[in-house]
Amino acid sequence: MELTILTFPDSFLKTKASPVTNIDGQLQKLISDMAETMYRAPGVGLAAIQVGVDKSLLIYDINPSDEERRLQVLINPRIVTSEGEILSENEGCLSVPDFRADVKRAERILVEAVDKDGNPLRFEADGLPAIVLQHEIDHLNGTLFIDRISALKRQMYARRMKKKIKNKT
Ligand code: NI
Repeated sequence: MELTILTFPDSFLKTKASPVTNIDGQLQKLISDMAETMYRAPGVGLAAIQVGVDKSLLIYDINPSDEERRLQVLINPRIVTSEGEILSENEGCLSVPDFRADVKRAERILVEAVDKDGNPLRFEADGLPAIVLQHEIDHLNGTLFIDRISALKRQMYARRMKKKIKNKT
C-alpha cells in the first residue's frame, strides 16, 4: 500500500522518532509499504517519520531503478562516529518538494543499527550512501536538510511554500 509522504511545513516532520522495540508483522508491513512508496516516488531513501509513523526506521536504495533494486532497511540506526567533510550537491528530499540545495555532510560515517530480522549491524559508509544515511537519520531526529542550509535560503523556501499552499485553498 502506497503511503502519503508528509511535506514541509508539516510539524510532524520535527518529531524525534521513538526506538523500535518490537520487530513484528506490523513493522514488516510498514517496511513493505514504505518501500513501495519510496520506489514509486521515486526516491533513494525514506524515513518512517516522513510517512507519519513515530518509529526509528529508515529504508534506502541508492540504485532505485527496477533491475538493480537492493533495498536496505535500518532499524534504530545511529551514527557512532563521523569524519571529514564533503559538499552534498543539489540535495533534495521527498518531504521538501521543488527545492534543492548544497549541504555540508560528513565524508565517512560509522553506523550501528538493527536489520529487519533483528540482527545487529555495524558498518562504515562513504560517498553517496553516507550522504543518504545522514539525510535519513536526520529525519529520525526531526531534522530536514533545509535546517542545514542558511536561514535566508530556508526562509525563502518557506515563503514560497506558504504562497503555494495559499493559492491551492
Ligand atoms: Ni528526506
